[in-house]
Amino acid sequence: MFELESQRIFGRSWMCVAHSSEIPDPGSFLRAELGGESILLVRDRAGHLAGMLNLCRHRGAQLCLEDQGNFGKSIRCSYHGWTYGLDGRLVGVPWRDKMPPGTEGRHLHSVSVTEWLGYVWVNLNDKASPLSEQVGPLIRERFGETNPIAHYETEHLKVVHKVTYDVRANWKILWENFDECYHCPTMHPELCAAVPQFRGGYGTVTGPQGLGAPLADGATGFSMSGRPVAPMLPKVPAEDERTFYGILLWPNISIVFVPDHVFCMRIEPQGPDSTRVVGEWLFHPDIADDPTFSPEDAVKVLDVTNREDFDACERVQLGAHSRQFDDSQVHSPFEHRIAEFRRWVDANLAQ
Ligand code: FES
Ligand SMILES: [Fe+2]
Repeated sequence: MFELESQRIFGRSWMCVAHSSEIPDPGSFLRAELGGESILLVRDRAGHLAGMLNLCRHRGAQLCLEDQGNFGKSIRCSYHGWTYGLDGRLVGVPWRDKMPPGTEGRHLHSVSVTEWLGYVWVNLNDKASPLSEQVGPLIRERFGETNPIAHYETEHLKVVHKVTYDVRANWKILWENFDECYHCPTMHPELCAAVPQFRGGYGTVTGPQGLGAPLADGATGFSMSGRPVAPMLPKVPAEDERTFYGILLWPNISIVFVPDHVFCMRIEPQGPDSTRVVGEWLFHPDIADDPTFSPEDAVKVLDVTNREDFDACERVQLGAHSRQFDDSQVHSPFEHRIAEFRRWVDANLAQ
């Protein structure tokens, strides 16, 4: 099933793989593993990102084994010295005059890549429709026509804090956890204290209560203390100065928007029972560049919540090995999105 999901879901969807700041300069590269492929993401001299398979077109050596770095002016295969430009075009072949006709057209296989919200998204499907067609319906379903995302100007924010969680659970168990807030009153005292609506079993992504959720009475920020850690982001309107928004963008991103920061969670499936999750806290550059700035009070509330969630996911993964664990689990009305998620998975696998 994981192989099939790798091919038909991760191999055909736009997948968020990194924050754009991880590939900052001309020649910078990042290697990503996705859908059974090794992919290189490279920034060229004009600042554009190119995506290409990490596969030499001579005899198929992987070009690069490092996770991140800078290629300089070109990408050179260390086997026989074929050389590619930062856009993946073949630019140099030793003894070219001895090579068969057609050799000059053996550029690296390109992979679709785009940037959105300050993140790098890739798609292995060369006939992929634009990213907006993948996320647009999810955004409209969640926020209707009053999409608040633009107010947070996420593409201009900087990653101030990053935590990587290695979770011993299948990626779908994680999504099913995020899909419901029936567990919030039991599992998340810190989150419920910050956003009391979660105590009612409906989070912001499942509930009938509206688009966003108010912070606790008296709170002026989304943090353990209820105080903001940074000034409100400049374009957030006054009516949202105490609002928490969340959105799930299947298959690998969940984002939280609060007045003074944005939290982005990236789900990177590693295998049938292991999932890497990268959580990043993003702040306005003015505060992010202040060496005295500490986001800790804000970081803690979601970091603690994430760990509570992942503990529960790991227990479900352990339960999944029982012969009695099956799809005929019982779901409360709070858990209606789990059925939607399963239908979405099934529809993708059936294609
Ligand atoms: S395999 Fe790369 S140059 Fe030969
Ligand atoms: Fe949770």
